[in-house]
Amino acid sequence: MKSTIKKTVDRIVMRRPDDWHVHMRDGDMLSRVVGYTAKQFGRAIIMPNLAVPITTVALARDYRIRINAAVSEQNFTPLMTCYLTDTVDAGEIEQGFKSDVFTACKLYPANATTNSSHGVTDINNITSALEVMQRIGMPLLVHGEVTDSDVDIFDREAVFIDQIMTKIIVDFPALKIVFEHITTKEAVDFVKVSGSNIAATITPHHLVYNRSAIFKGGINPHLYCLPIAKRERHRLALRRAAISGSPKFFLGTDSAPHTIENKQSACGCAGVFNAPYAMESYAQTFEEENALHKLEGFASQFGPQFYGLEPNTQKIVLERANTVVPAMLDIMDTQIVPFHAGETLGWKLAGLA
Ligand code: NCD
Ligand code: ZN
Repeated sequence: MKSTIKKTVDRIVMRRPDDWHVHMRDGDMLSRVVGYTAKQFGRAIIMPNLAVPITTVALARDYRIRINAAVSEQNFTPLMTCYLTDTVDAGEIEQGFKSDVFTACKLYPANATTNSSHGVTDINNITSALEVMQRIGMPLLVHGEVTDSDVDIFDREAVFIDQIMTKIIVDFPALKIVFEHITTKEAVDFVKVSGSNIAATITPHHLVYNRSAIFKGGINPHLYCLPIAKRERHRLALRRAAISGSPKFFLGTDSAPHTIENKQSACGCAGVFNAPYAMESYAQTFEEENALHKLEGFASQFGPQFYGLEPNTQKIVLERANTVVPAMLDIMDTQIVPFHAGETLGWKLAGLA
C-alpha cells in the first residue's frame, strides 16, 4: 500500500494509527489514561496483566466494557488479549477468538515483568494453546525475555531468542507471532530472517534512548522499563528497522503508567508512560532519520496488515509546532511523569483530519 503522507514538511496528513501494545490498567487509573491513547489511535491491543490477569473470555468481556465506558471518543476500539498461564484452557481461547472477544494471546514468562507472576513457567505447558492458535490464525504476543536470574538483564532478550523463540517457530511454523517491544539487534535480525508470520513492535522510547541515558547525571527511574534499553548499537538497529519500510516492524507503545510514588521508590516499577505524546515522539524520530514518509506504514498500515484487519479510514493531522511536555501529569490524587517530561518536541497532533 502506498503511503498517503503528503511530502510537505510542516503538516502530515496520514491514516489514523493503531497502538499494538498498551497497558490501560483499571479503575481510576484506566479512566485517567485511556483518553491519551484514544485521541491518537483508532484501535489498541490491550495488555491483560491486571492485578487479576485477564485469563477468561468473561474477564476480557467485562474489562472491554470498562474500557469503553471510560473512553469518551466515539471511534476507539480496544482489542482484547488473553493472558496465558500454565493451566490455560485451549478451548476457552478458541471460543474467545471466535466470538470476537480475544484478538490475541499474551505470553509472559513467569515473573518477567509487572504482574507476571501468573505467567508461563515452561513453554511446554502451553502446547495445546499454541496448537489451537496456529490452527485458527490467532496471534501470539511475546514478552521475549528469559527470567533466569543467572542471565544478565541486558542479555535476557537475546537468550530468549536462542532458547525459546527458535523452539516455538520450529514447533509451530505457521503460528503468527509478534515479538513485542524489541530492544536488540538480535531481535531485529531474528524477525527479518523469519517468515512473514513473524513480526515485531517497537516502542517510542527504545528508539530515543540507550541504556547509558538511564544513568546520565544520576539514576532516572522514569526511563526504567522492561525489556530495559540496551547499548547504542541496538538502538540504532531499532531505528533502521522502524524506518525500513518492512511490514514486519510496526508501532506498539508499551505505554505503562505507574504513579510517581511507585516509580520513585526503593523498588521502582518498570514502565514508561509514553501514551500522552506517542505520535509526536515517533514523528520526531522519523524526521531525525529523514524518513517521515515511512511513518504511515509503520504506524497505520503494517499492524492491521499483520492482524488481517483493514487500516483505519480516518486520518490524523500532525503539524510542525512545539509541544512542551509537562514535567508531570495530575492523576487521581497524585502524578505520573510522562515520557519526554520537560522536553519540547517538534510536532503536535492537531487532531483528526
Ligand atoms: C509493563 C507494565 O508496567 O505493565 N512494564 C514495562 O516495563 N513495560 C509490563 C511489560 O510490558 O513488561
Ligand atoms: Zn508491555
